[in-house]
Amino acid sequence: QAASIPADNVPDMEKRKLMNLLLLGAIGLPTAGMLYPYTYFLVPPGSGGGGGGTPAKDALGNDIIAAEWIKTHGPGDRTLTQGLKGDPTYLVVENDKTLATYGINAVCTHLGCVVPWNKAENKFMCPCHGSQYNNQGKVVRGPAPLSLALAHADVSIDDGKVVFVPWTETDFRTGDAPWWS
Ligand code: FES
Repeated sequence: QAASIPADNVPDMEKRKLMNLLLLGAIGLPTAGMLYPYTYFLVPPGSGGGGGGTPAKDALGNDIIAAEWIKTHGPGDRTLTQGLKGDPTYLVVENDKTLATYGINAVCTHLGCVVPWNKAENKFMCPCHGSQYNNQGKVVRGPAPLSLALAHADVSIDDGKVVFVPWTETDFRTGDAPWWS
């Protein structure tokens, strides 16, 4: 019966991930789904680098304008947005008040809980089983086996929107190839 264990675990994990996503964006996700076909055409070709770009969306499902975001999110801020494939992704404001060029996928690499940012501890701390990640999402405590996934956070030169693009290069935090791509 050992062979049935992985099969039993997978639906559980997917279910949990789905529930986390629903919790995160009870309002935002359905809205974003409806808007996507329209906003897609507003993103200029080329802004996505490899063509795989997705506009970042706030909790209400609106596209995020980098300049506006910086005005309302201070240095060191890490706020959840909707990223690639709808994954909850942290947009990072650097200490010099610029937007970081990377976003951090909030899905815990252990069993898929959405990991909250703990400002006081300067870490991402998973409430499910205690995994911890530093302020760039690099794993510093298990049981999570891997660091949080990265995405490029580009700013469109045409309309100033934040666009997430798949990260396929070396993980700058570990020097390793990205496990997620
Ligand atoms: Fe995050 Fe288990 S899901 S520690």
